[in-house]
Amino acid sequence: MAMENQNCWVLSLLCMLLLGHWISLEAAPANSLITKLPGFNGNFPSKHYSGYISIDGNAESGKNLFYYLVSSERSPEKDPVVLWLNGGPGCSSFDGFVYEHGPFNFQAAKSKWNLPTLHTNPYSWSKVSNIIYLDSPAGVGLSYSKNTTKYNTGDLQTASDTHDFLLKWFQQFLEFQTNPFYIAGESYAGVYVPTLAFEVAKGIQSGRQPVINFKGYMIGNGVTDQEFDNHALIPFVHGMGLISDSIYEELQATCKGNYYDAYSLDENDVCYKSIEKLDKAIDRLNLYNILEPCYHFTDDKENGSLPKSFKQLGVTERPLPVRKRMFGRAWPFRAPVKPGLVTLWPQLAKTNHASNHSDEVASAWLNNVAVRKAIHAESEGVAGAWELCTDRIAYYHNAGSMIPYHKNLTSLGYKALIFSGDHDMCVPFTGSEAWTRSLGYKIVDEWRPWISNDQVAGYLQAYDNNLTFLTIKGAGHTVPEYKPREALDFYSRWLEGNKI
Ligand SMILES: *[C@@H]1O[C@H](CO)[C@@H](O)[C@H](O)[C@H]1NC(C)=O
Ligand SMILES: *[C@@H]1O[C@H](CO)[C@@H](O)[C@H](O)[C@H]1NC(C)=O
Ligand SMILES: *[C@@H]1O[C@H](CO)[C@@H](O)[C@H](O)[C@H]1NC(C)=O
Ligand SMILES: *[C@@H]1O[C@H](CO)[C@@H](O)[C@H](O)[C@H]1NC(C)=O
Ligand SMILES: *[C@@H]1O[C@H](CO)[C@@H](O)[C@H](O)[C@H]1NC(C)=O
Repeated sequence: MAMENQNCWVLSLLCMLLLGHWISLEAAPANSLITKLPGFNGNFPSKHYSGYISIDGNAESGKNLFYYLVSSERSPEKDPVVLWLNGGPGCSSFDGFVYEHGPFNFQAAKSKWNLPTLHTNPYSWSKVSNIIYLDSPAGVGLSYSKNTTKYNTGDLQTASDTHDFLLKWFQQFLEFQTNPFYIAGESYAGVYVPTLAFEVAKGIQSGRQPVINFKGYMIGNGVTDQEFDNHALIPFVHGMGLISDSIYEELQATCKGNYYDAYSLDENDVCYKSIEKLDKAIDRLNLYNILEPCYHFTDDKENGSLPKSFKQLGVTERPLPVRKRMFGRAWPFRAPVKPGLVTLWPQLAKTNHASNHSDEVASAWLNNVAVRKAIHAESEGVAGAWELCTDRIAYYHNAGSMIPYHKNLTSLGYKALIFSGDHDMCVPFTGSEAWTRSLGYKIVDEWRPWISNDQVAGYLQAYDNNLTFLTIKGAGHTVPEYKPREALDFYSRWLEGNKI
């Protein structure tokens, strides 16, 4: 093998009108309100709540799912409620909270034993929405079960569990029951989001209480379908100038357009030989953003051998530069998502096929005793150490392709935004563009640039049934991490039903 680098008691209607705001604050469980956070000295821009909701039993016997709700800094009574899910499978949604679109920018401490300093984030998604960061499934992030047999799970169980979580969450947070509700996520959440959305839609149809005011979903660089995802890499690398015309032509001829199972071929197969040329060309690139530096296990540590101009590439408008991703998990590259048991990130790390990202800031903060107490999380002794991505779960990809889910959900009238950082090589935009088009919906807004801060921020194509495909120019796998301003722009426009 060539390339081993890498979420009223109303007496009368009048009471509700007069006291609506006050009542709404009382409905949330009082013991879930966060009153201070180590590392943050300012005033909270909005109310934050966090804690556990137990499903499939009680706190002792069941699955304890950890959520952190950042209420909207604008109008929490009216703004939508959005559930955010990171992927993996096995990765914590604090990835989104700390590194992408959370209420704070985390500034690393000089020493790794000190806590990071928290500053408010001008591009937080809480500017326009109430957002729930959920660690799912049980075993991930701060979520846990005392019965570790419950760590064996898969797509269908996770969707059903998360639906149970939502029903219980909305029972506790009554004041949010009538807000429009959306589900959002990225990467492997390309599977979590449609499967959960389908459970929610079925729940609404069958009269499950409370009724969830579900409106739609959004997915960034999401895993969707084995064939589309895996065929996407080659047109991507060719279009980006990473392989030559002749290697591209050779790949088409030898693999006959079927790349998704090329990695299981015999070493002597002609397609395999062409793939080796591809590997050689893209081997040392940062998989999550081909423009970003890629740190290798050799001698080019931190500031080592990188030219100064190159180092600037990790710097965005956030005080914390984007993480230094050292290697990338390869979807579809080398480790495609297939039905069955999914190899988890830490397991991939052992084979060098995995990512190596600098998650010290999140780890230092979330494993601190005072922080855990402040956010109502169990101690390490109970919930375990927080890891960005865990391998203490066993996860089965058993929902198949997401395309039938998207067809179903969009035809039921739920709106969908499929967005893609166009420099991500992990789940390249070429796959998302192709599968959205393949649904065959009429184009209602043909391919055009969309504008943020007076500049072209990417491209979009909108389809009938409220389906929109959108790219973010220059962004990698985790869009808001790379392009925070642009991300808040499309997010708020889409949620408000405005033209993006
Ligand atoms: C642990 O969970 C599994 C799966 O839900 C269940 O079958 C088993 O009875 C549980 N064990 C205990 C000791 O509660
Ligand atoms: C990084 O740069 C600093 C300042 O230029 C230097 O002192 C240090 O030795 C460098 N570290 C490495 C690993 O090159
Ligand atoms: C990530 O890279 C750092 C620095 O090269 C190394 O010390 C560490 O062991 C790597 N971690 C993993 C999980 O590979
Ligand atoms: C959506 O899924 C439901 C339940 O499986 C099925 O009855 C219905 O026919 C599907 N609708 C579409 C348009 O696929
Ligand atoms: C699109 O969504 C709007 C509400 O946002 C809804 O009124 C309309 O019926 C939807 N259109 C389609 C074609 O589903």
